[in-house]
Amino acid sequence: MKAVVFHGVGDIRLEDVPEPKIERPTDALVRLTASAICGTDLHMIRGTLPGMEAGTILGHEGVGVIEEAGASVRDFKVGDRVVVPSTICCGKCSYCTSGYQSQCDEANPNGKQAGTAFFGGPKTTGPIHGLQAEYARVPLADPSLVKLPPEVADDRAILLSDIFPTGYFGADLAEIKPGDAVCVFGCGPVGLFTIVSARLMGAGRVFAVDALPDRLEKARESGAETIDFNAEHPVKKLKDATDGVGVLRAIDAVGVDAYRPETGPAYAGSRAMKSQFKEEQKEIQSDGSGATWGGQWVPGDSPSQVLQWAVEVLAKAGTLSIIGVYPETMTRFPIGMAMNKNLTLQMGNCPHRKYVPRLIDAVAAGKVDPLKVLSQVEPMTDVIAAYKAFDDRRPGWIKVELMPSA
Ligand SMILES: NC(=O)c1ccc[n+]([C@@H]2O[C@H](COP(=O)([O-])OP(=O)(O)OC[C@H]3O[C@@H](n4cnc5c(N)ncnc54)[C@H](O)[C@@H]3O)[C@@H](O)[C@H]2O)c1
Ligand SMILES: [Zn+2]
Ligand SMILES: [Zn+2]
Repeated sequence: MKAVVFHGVGDIRLEDVPEPKIERPTDALVRLTASAICGTDLHMIRGTLPGMEAGTILGHEGVGVIEEAGASVRDFKVGDRVVVPSTICCGKCSYCTSGYQSQCDEANPNGKQAGTAFFGGPKTTGPIHGLQAEYARVPLADPSLVKLPPEVADDRAILLSDIFPTGYFGADLAEIKPGDAVCVFGCGPVGLFTIVSARLMGAGRVFAVDALPDRLEKARESGAETIDFNAEHPVKKLKDATDGVGVLRAIDAVGVDAYRPETGPAYAGSRAMKSQFKEEQKEIQSDGSGATWGGQWVPGDSPSQVLQWAVEVLAKAGTLSIIGVYPETMTRFPIGMAMNKNLTLQMGNCPHRKYVPRLIDAVAAGKVDPLKVLSQVEPMTDVIAAYKAFDDRRPGWIKVELMPSA
C-alpha cells in the first residue's frame, strides 16, 4: 500500500509498504478514506519534535471503514465507519476513567511512565504506524475508535480526529466562563477551532494573534478580533483593549515552532531575546541541528516567544492553557512572572476520546460547521507537494485533507 514514511529530519517519502495486519485480538484494521496533515507533523519533519524512528508511517488524523476486527473487538464490525482519534487509550485504567485518556497507563508500549501513545509519532509515543496510509492497525480498537453517523461525511469527520477536539480541549483547559476575555495565540487549524470552542463556551471578547493574512482572515470569520504581530504589539494591544488589566484566559496554539516579529512595534523586544531563542533552539533540536534543507522544513526561530507574550498579557490570577506542542527538550518558561501573577497553568496532549463523541453530536446537529477550516483536499499522489505547501504557509493552505485511496 502507499504511505507517507519518515526517513529523517527533512526527509519524508511516499512509498509502497506492506499492509498492516491484526497483531492482537483487541486490534482493528481500518481502511482509511480520509487522512490529514497537521502542524504536529511539521514539528517532527523540522526536527523540533525529536526522537522519530526512520521507517515510521506518519499521520495521526484518520477516518475510515473497519476492514477486519480482532477476535475480542465487540463494539465494531466490518464495514462500520469510524473516526480514528489521534491518541490511543485502554478505557479502563485510572487515567482513562477520569478523563485523562492521553495519559493512559496501558496504551504506550514503552510503559506506564512513557505518556501519550499516538499514531505516527516519535519512538517514545509507541512508535505506532500512522494514518497517512491506505490501511492502519488500530490498537485497543473498542475504547479508542468512535462510530460516525452517516450525516457526518468524511470532510467534516476528518477534522474531528484531532484538531477540533484539541481546540476544544485548549478552550476547556483555559477555564473559560461566559463573558471572559480570551486570547488565542496562533490561527492555524488548531487555533481556529480554539476560537470556535471559546465562543461555544460563551467567551466575551476573543482575540487572536498571528501574522499570516489568510489565517487572520479565517479567525475574523470565526468571530475573533485579530492582532497581526508584525503590525501591532500583541501585549500592548491587549492591555489597551482591556483597560490595562489583560485577558483572563490565554491559549498557546502555536508550540515550539513559534517565530518572532520581522517588523512593527514588537520587533525590538523580540530581537533583544535573540540569543536566548538561539540557545533554546540548540537545546531542542537534538537531531535536527538547525539545518534547513534548502529553505524547506525551517524550524521556528523563537521557541518561547508565545509563552512569553501569553504570560505577559494575562490578567493577574488568569489562566494559561498550552496545547501547542513542545518536546521534552524544551525547558524555558517565564516561571517568575507567572508565579508572581498567581496564574493557573494547564496544558497537555488532548484526551481525544473524552471530547470526540460530543463534538460529533454538535456537528451532526449543525451547531458547528468544521468545514470552514478545511482549505484543500489532495490525493495521496500529491502528498509531498501538499506537505511542502503547508510547511511554506502558502497563502490559502490552512488545513489539508488527504485521500489515501486516491
Ligand atoms: N496538544 C495536543 O494534543 C495537540 C494536538 C494537535 C496539534 N497540536 C499542536 O497545536 C499547534 C498548532 O497546530 P496547527 O496544526 O494549527 O499548526 P500550524 O503550524 O498550522 O499553526 C501554527 C500557527 O502559529 C502561528 N505563529 C507562529 N509564531 C507565532 C507567534 N509568535 N504568535 C502567534 N502565532 C504564531 C503560525 O503563523 C501558524 O499560523 C502545533 O504545535 C501542534 O503540534 C497539539
Ligand atoms: Zn493533528
Ligand atoms: Zn487507559
